[in-house]
Amino acid sequence: MSETELDRAADDLTGKLGVDVRSGLLAPQKWLPSKWFYDERGSRLFEEITVLPEYYPTRAEREVLEREAGEIARVTGARTLVELGSGSSEKTRLLLDALRAHGTLRGFVPLDVSESALSEAVEAIRADYPGLDVHGVVGDFTEHLSLLPGESPRLVAFLGGTIGNFLPADRVKFLRSVRDVLSEGEWLLLGTDLVKDPGTLVAAYDDAAGVTAEFNRNMLLVVNDRLGADFDPARFRHEAYWDAGNEWIEMRLRAVEDMTVRIPGAGLEVGFLAGEYIRTEISAKFRASGVAGELVESGFSVERWWTDSGKRFGVSLARSRN
Ligand code: AVJ
Repeated sequence: MSETELDRAADDLTGKLGVDVRSGLLAPQKWLPSKWFYDERGSRLFEEITVLPEYYPTRAEREVLEREAGEIARVTGARTLVELGSGSSEKTRLLLDALRAHGTLRGFVPLDVSESALSEAVEAIRADYPGLDVHGVVGDFTEHLSLLPGESPRLVAFLGGTIGNFLPADRVKFLRSVRDVLSEGEWLLLGTDLVKDPGTLVAAYDDAAGVTAEFNRNMLLVVNDRLGADFDPARFRHEAYWDAGNEWIEMRLRAVEDMTVRIPGAGLEVGFLAGEYIRTEISAKFRASGVAGELVESGFSVERWWTDSGKRFGVSLARSRN
């Protein structure tokens, strides 16, 4: 992208953050969308999270992909791999390698909200896969799906359990919108973290080294940075809460004392009472039957279902049908 294009994209993001901050922080239960974690620092902190001893999803999903990438290539015969929320595209290499070995791979289309994470990934993949047509898209996968290029059959990979960041009603809407950009017979590879004992889940979102706490508070720095706000992250405590009824982990930032925060870029002053919290993320955990049900409801047929050996994480391979 040219510098002016990047500037325009940045202005656009700042405008959208302002809208989200206004609606989220004026709501009776304050909340902010989790996509705002991922500026350059946030993306780096997330990469650190993925190697923490407590954060098992990345390793569990990688175990499945290492075992099944060859099968995924055979079943799909994909010519284009599209990756939504690609981040560093590290696990993607397992899929690229398998599709290349199978002989069908032509293009790779990573899509991510983080410009920095995306451009690093695009450079690295271009260097390591000469001849591969790599087309990075900076964007929000809830909005920019219709722009996805590439030769058919395409395989859309949505990994890491990021589908769990949607509220249940938005989840099926999102899956339908993926289905709508695919032609009949194209593919979705979906990673879903599974319900398990609460101790394991909470530890994964509240690690001993405090990296997840830093990641969580980073959202306040993003708001400071883009909207000129004066959040003091030290006055918010990180919490990971297992909501057993909804079967999701909630990340929260809890105010440790009364305060008023100025957010000029959103034309806002927000008061916090001691003990009040902002919900910054939900990360839903799934059961096999629930995943299959939502895929079918969204217009897919489930062709394969795998878990890691510890049954901690599930991967579905689904085909779009009419
Ligand atoms: C990248 C969205 C899959 O929900 O587990 C990690 C983000 N949040 N630790 C997740 C996250 C806290 C992660 N996803």
